Amino acid sequence: MNKLLGHLAYLEIASPDPEASARFYEERFGMRVIDRIDGKIYLRSWGDYYRHSLVISAGPDAALKTMAWRTENAEALDELVERVENVGGVRGEWTPSSPGVGRAYSFTGPFGHNMTLLWEIEDYVAEPGYESVYPDRPEKRSSHGAAPRFLDHVTIACSDVDGFATWYAQTLGFRIMARTVLDEAPVTVFSVLTTNEKSHDLGIVLDTSTTPGRLHHIAFWVDHPEDLVRTADLLIENGVPIEYGPSIHGIGEQHFLYFREPSTLRVEVNSGGYRNYVPDWRARTWKPSDGANSFFRNWNMPDSMMEAFPAAAGLTATEQGASPELRAALANPWSTTTSAR
Ligand SMILES: [Fe+2]
Repeated sequence: MNKLLGHLAYLEIASPDPEASARFYEERFGMRVIDRIDGKIYLRSWGDYYRHSLVISAGPDAALKTMAWRTENAEALDELVERVENVGGVRGEWTPSSPGVGRAYSFTGPFGHNMTLLWEIEDYVAEPGYESVYPDRPEKRSSHGAAPRFLDHVTIACSDVDGFATWYAQTLGFRIMARTVLDEAPVTVFSVLTTNEKSHDLGIVLDTSTTPGRLHHIAFWVDHPEDLVRTADLLIENGVPIEYGPSIHGIGEQHFLYFREPSTLRVEVNSGGYRNYVPDWRARTWKPSDGANSFFRNWNMPDSMMEAFPAAAGLTATEQGASPELRAALANPWSTTTSAR
């Protein structure tokens, strides 16, 4: 199929206290609130080309409301909608225009994740005082907090990692770049999909809960790996614990740093990584022992990285693979977690 999807345009997340979350993104992380409309808070990073890259709305728990992807052109939007509606089992709807966004189609995928497809979106035009001296930049560089450049990716949690990857690759044209299969059992616990040259803009971790549509983390880009170290320093100095990192993932070879915002949602900062332009790339299979998550093979994740959002009973695997408990359960073919998949 021709390339139809452009890239990840923005994310809408839920927070029990949207103002507290927005304060964190603005004061600690370094984004900027640009609008408050109908109870939703719109934020942008300095390098986001569109008006906003993050929308926070009120909800009982941290959660993914939608991941919004821009198509390659207007015709591609109609073609993608046709593909979604013809694949069977999934029905979406055209949604009225929202701030900065024109005609859009919203659907809930087979594993419960809401996706918005759109072409028409408002370019950001810098307000007075925010203009960059460089023509390519939508806004001058920020030096506040982590000063993330732009939205990078979203990683969801799902009960069937390979099933999710296959559906999104076949229906929407994502490239499947890699996956992680446990050393001790033929269970895929992580996979990465992309619309571009990076290893991923959509990640998938195994979710053994019965709650559909869960979110694992959202991620923003910084230009230099050193920025991750500075960000970790700044966050700790301001009372924000570091969940994991800074270090380098094996898959994608990206530098990473994870922490939480007030809703408890996990936020990642990324930098570096390889570029891959191969159109017929064959997805590589990693084992956790290869260093899928920890490039240097010397640093396991804390158990907190098993949490996904909203909270649910049951463990979530991550790029590392799985906790000892989850590994034991998945390695046993008669376990309830395996049969529930
Ligand atoms: Fe990530």
